[in-house]
Formats: sequence, structure tokens, C-alpha cells
Amino acid sequence: MHEIIEQLDEKREKARMGGGQKRIDAQHAKGKLTARERIDLLLDPGSFEEWDMFVEHRCTDFGMEKEHTPGDGVVIGYGTINGRLVFVFSQDFTVFGGSLSETHAEKICKLMDQAMKVGAPVIGLNDSGGARIQEGVASLGGYADVFQRNVMASGVVPQISMIMGPCAGGAVYSPAITDFIFMVKDSSYMFVTGPEVVKTVTHETVTAEQLGGAVTHSSKSGVADLAFENDVEALVKLRRFISFLPANNKEKPPVWPTEDPADRAEMSLDTLIPDDPNKPYDMKELIVKVADEGDFFELQPDYAANLVIGFIRVEGSTVGVVANQPMVMAGCLDIDASKKGARFIRFCDAFNIPVLTFVDVPGFMPGTSQEYGGIIKHGAKLLYAYAECTVPKVTVITRKAYGGAYDVMSSKHLRGDVNFAWPTAEIAVMGPKGAVEIIFRKDIGDPEKIAARELEYREKFANPFIAGKRGFIDDVIMPHHTRKRVARSLSMLREKKLENPWRKHGNIPL
Ligand code: COA
Repeated sequence: MHEIIEQLDEKREKARMGGGQKRIDAQHAKGKLTARERIDLLLDPGSFEEWDMFVEHRCTDFGMEKEHTPGDGVVIGYGTINGRLVFVFSQDFTVFGGSLSETHAEKICKLMDQAMKVGAPVIGLNDSGGARIQEGVASLGGYADVFQRNVMASGVVPQISMIMGPCAGGAVYSPAITDFIFMVKDSSYMFVTGPEVVKTVTHETVTAEQLGGAVTHSSKSGVADLAFENDVEALVKLRRFISFLPANNKEKPPVWPTEDPADRAEMSLDTLIPDDPNKPYDMKELIVKVADEGDFFELQPDYAANLVIGFIRVEGSTVGVVANQPMVMAGCLDIDASKKGARFIRFCDAFNIPVLTFVDVPGFMPGTSQEYGGIIKHGAKLLYAYAECTVPKVTVITRKAYGGAYDVMSSKHLRGDVNFAWPTAEIAVMGPKGAVEIIFRKDIGDPEKIAARELEYREKFANPFIAGKRGFIDDVIMPHHTRKRVARSLSMLREKKLENPWRKHGNIPL
């Protein structure tokens, strides 16, 4: 017995040391924490229950039979974040470069299976050199086993990937399927093929950071939802992020205590919209003023910034916000914004998070690059996402709601539950100038006539009452009462029940 306990201590100590002090020092020298230090920061103190510390690889090729590290390059287990259960795997770069062996994959799969059974989020802290080269196809099989579970868990429990080191080749596709990808600047990268292969095939010269660093993916490709400065910031923000999410698709979002009165009036909102309809204003000001305690967790702020997405709370309960941003491309919808919005709405819908939409949209972005890029199909994603969504939907039109974009942005016609407009709302097929140039083309040479027609059009359509007459909006509200009216609507909708017809799955345009 005594001997076994000694062995146990020895094995545990060996596992805790991962690839040894030298490699731990090298990890620190790169500004990175170790797999275990990351878990310690992420979870509530003392809450981590580790599994499979004694698992070792079974490979006997290339001298691997002599190299064994208990745990085999990934630390797995469960613990709590602000008292709420989460499952975590954290890849240990100090052990064979965090590479994924057959047994490493088995550990991740075991964790995911358990998370699915109990209904709790899976958080992956990725830091890996990819497939364990010495194991060949056994390792590739391991990846596929993880992918399959990622797909089965999609929409059942939230899955979050934090990329904190290399993530290349096949390894990228597990994070890609998860709901959110966060990255750490300068120390993480994701790409299908690295800079050397790129150079050989396309003759482009790029660094790993340029090709797949955190800034690239959070601003150019849209693969990552946020980029953090370092490991500590990343893990602290991840704790905050988790606080917005329900544990699974059967749960409602968590409700946190708040002192912020639901009927708080914000007089400054009455002057948010400039007198000149072509002047921009910052939609984020509205979002922050509606949110409990002004707390807005924005996602993808540097990608498709013409559409703002993220989480707020109203009366303590999580709400997903989707908002056109007049400050960027006048708030037009383009390919990137449509994809960004659609995926976010589908996450909210899968996890019972109500969707609050703020609308100021002049339409879809014109141009060959958009058309050749397939704006028709990508724009349809946003429409599809809103239309299939059954969670509570509250919409506020602040200014422009023109054309097809009016329909798309959570209109009454797409089962919007409560649709408000500010007195400044203009709901029409298009703006006055464009409309007059088409329907009064013969008057184009006569500026006086055109000006009179524009005025007529503006008076007729540039207001919320035409839509109000038909019941397409439920009420015209004063901007300063937006929080109160939204809060009441969400409260009324709390027990909303709506089901789509049975089907295997829909066929969203991809
Ligand atoms: N399989 C097995 N061992 C691996 C590995 C892999 N895929 N990737 C890294 N390692 C090992 C290295 O042999 C090294 O071992 P050592 O400490 O005993 O010397 C250790 O992990 C650290 O790797 P190293 O190359 O020294 O780190 P780095 O920071 O300089 O580079 C990578 C990191 C990921 C860029 C580099 O290791 C790499 O290119 N790995 C292979 C990536 C790949 O092609 N994977 C397969 C396709 S999915």
C-alpha cells in the first residue's frame, strides 16, 4: 500500500512536470503559460478535477517506446467558473509539442462524451504541433473522432476554443466547428498549411503571424472572434464570456443579480440620431445604454464592423445583440456582415438566448466584388437565420430600414415578436434620392422638380407610420425609453414557445 502511494505521488509529480523544467522554461520564455497554469487561471481556485493523468501513448515506432510522459500531452478534467460547471482540455506543448496522439485524442473524446451527458460547456485550450508524426494514421483517426464529437455537440453544449499556440493542418478543423474561437496575439496561429508550403505552392512570402495570427483571423478572415494580448488576459476574459452562456441547449441563460433599474431612462438617446440622415452615429452607444450596467461583450469587433454582434444582459439575463453600425460603410449589409450575423443568431437560437436587433440599414452592399463573391447566397444566410430562429426576437428600427435589408433585419414578417421604431425611422424600399431618380426619371434634368419630388417622398415614406398602419411595427417609442420597452418585451417573451416543423435539418444556403 505504502509503495503504491509512493508510486502514485511519483507519477503525479512526473505528469505535473510535463516535458520537464527545460521545456517549461522555454514555454515561459515565449510568454506562454503551461497547460496547468492556464487551467488554474481559468477555473475557480481548487475546483479542478483532473482525469487521465496516467494515460500514456502506445506507440512503439521511432524510439517512442522509450519516451513516455504520463498524461500524454493534454490535461483534461472539469471544474467551475463562477460556480458553474465546465469541462476543459488543455494541450501541453512541453510534451511532444502538444501533438495529438491516439491516446491524447481519446482523452479529449472522453471529456466531450461526459460533457454531453451532463450538459456542460467544453473549453479547449489549444497549443499543439498537430498530429503526432510518429503515430501516423492512428493520430489522424484520433482527430476525426474529435471532429465527429464536435459536430454532435454543436447546438447541444457550448464549445469554445482558445488558441494559445500552434494550430495547423487538420488540427484547425476541431476549433473551426466549435462555437467561438479566441486567439492570443503573437503566440498563436492557425492555418491549413504553413508559410513554407505557401511559399512553395503560391510563391507568396508571409510570416506565420501574417498568415494565421490572432490579428489576421480577428480582422481579415473572421475565423477568430477575439484576439487577446496575452494568456492572462485571454483566460480572464474567457471566464467573463462563459458567464453569459447557458450550460446547454435545454437551459435558459444564467441570470445574474443587477442593481440597474429596468426602466432606466436615457435622455441622451433622444439626440443620438443626427439631423442629417446621411451623417453617421455610433450604434454601440445605444447598445451600451440599453445594457445592464453598460456591460457589452462584443464579438468580432474588427471584422465586418458594419454589423455589431455580442452579448449584453437585460434584467440580469443574457441577450444577443445584432446591430447595423452606421459608422462603417453606412451600416450596409455585405457578405462578411451577413455571415457574421447569421452564425451568431444561430448560436443564440440554439442556446435559448433572445435576439435584440437594432436596425439602421440602407440596404445590401452593391458592386461586382459582392455579387461575384455570392452576396445573394451569403445575404440569404442572415435572412435564413432570422427566419428559422424561435427564441424571443425584439427589434428596434432607429433610422433607415430600406429594401430587402428591412425584411432581413428581424422584421415582423420573419416572426419578429416585438418590433419598435424610433420617431426617426424611415421604412421604405429605398432612400428618397434613389427612389425619385427611378420613379421620376423624366424630371432628372430639372433640379427644382426633383427637389420637390424628394420632399414629397420623404414626407410620405421617411417616417415610421406607414409601417405602423399595417402593424409591421408594434409601436413608435421614444429613444430614451428604449431600455424600458425592450426589458418589458423580453420579460413578456420569457416563456415564449414556438416550434418549427419537424425535419431532419433545414438546408441553409452555404
Ligand atoms: N509530432 C510529434 N512531435 C512534435 C510535433 C508533432 N506533430 N510537433 C512538435 N513536436 C515536438 C518536437 O519534436 C519537439 O520535441 P523536443 O522538445 O523533444 O525537441 C517539441 O515538440 C517542440 O517542437 P519544436 O519544433 O521545437 O517547437 P517550435 O516552437 O520551434 O515549433 C511547430 C512548433 C509546431 C511549428 C513545429 O514543431 C512543427 O512544425 N511541428 C510539426 C507540425 C506538423 O506538421 N504537424 C503535422 C500536421 S497536422
